[in-house]
Amino acid sequence: MSQQWLTATISCTSETREILSDFLLGLGSAWVSVENSNLIAYFPADANPDELLSEITESIEALRSSGVDLPGELPAIREVSDEGWAERWTEFFKPLKISSRLVVTPPWETYEPDPGEEILLLDPGMGFGTGSHETTRCCLKAIDDLVEDGNTILDVGTGSGILSIAAILLGAERATALDVDPAALQNARHNATLNNVQDRIFFEERSIQATDQGYDIVVANIFAETIVELSTLLKASVKPGRYLVLSGIMNPKSGMVEEAMGDFERLGTMVEGNWTTLTYQKKVSLQ
Ligand SMILES: C[S@@+](CC[C@H](N)C(=O)[O-])C[C@H]1O[C@@H](n2cnc3c(N)ncnc32)[C@H](O)[C@@H]1O
Repeated sequence: MSQQWLTATISCTSETREILSDFLLGLGSAWVSVENSNLIAYFPADANPDELLSEITESIEALRSSGVDLPGELPAIREVSDEGWAERWTEFFKPLKISSRLVVTPPWETYEPDPGEEILLLDPGMGFGTGSHETTRCCLKAIDDLVEDGNTILDVGTGSGILSIAAILLGAERATALDVDPAALQNARHNATLNNVQDRIFFEERSIQATDQGYDIVVANIFAETIVELSTLLKASVKPGRYLVLSGIMNPKSGMVEEAMGDFERLGTMVEGNWTTLTYQKKVSLQ
């Protein structure tokens, strides 16, 4: 069986390969492969080629302005027919043990859980977040550490829905999951249903707003600049004494996020690859 894809081909070096892959996966690429000195990212064929080109070009510009040495030429976008995609897809996504309690697995794999393990079924689609990216993994670990039975979760930028679903499987009562991308929300709803937690997660196509208040755990895995822009709303949405988990922060940008967190107390910093994840607690005295 063959499948149509849009591919974006960009030249890279061994130093820029990882960071570029991270960004392409963040833009909705299903996977990336390396051929000679080129990175080839596979996007679903219904993506708009012009929008894709401008999004990738913007990302390359943003990376270049933060000091990453990338070539000047535009990526080449092509439509391809891929005969071996089904095999590659199933080879690429395997069960992933995230923490002592949580294993993420695609629905076509059979995984026998050890006692105490929760299985999160994740069907990869247009929503970012399969557990293979450092930022997602660190958010999942932070949620596993912080979540208590009966908690409420606000998930800003839910992507595939993975963080909200994990929080519910680990004991949270309900989650509000927000995303500005309708294709991500469609994938997230599907994943919630796969895990039979669809009645406990309220999906909404929007960003955070002032009425989002009183959550036990607020998690946002979005870029540092967006976190800073939304920081007042993010801080206001946390219940006094409770927690904020922030990721999607390229390491050199963690300072700008820390500055924006003001009176919140930093509980932990996780650095994996190019990415930093920060956890905070809101002082009981703060409203
Ligand atoms: C890096 S993905 C994170 C997905 C998932 N939460 C995870 O941890 O793997 C970021 C998501 O945030 C969404 N997003 C970006 N800006 C947003 C905003 N202002 N409000 C809500 N969602 C946003 C994007 O559409 C994308 O799905």
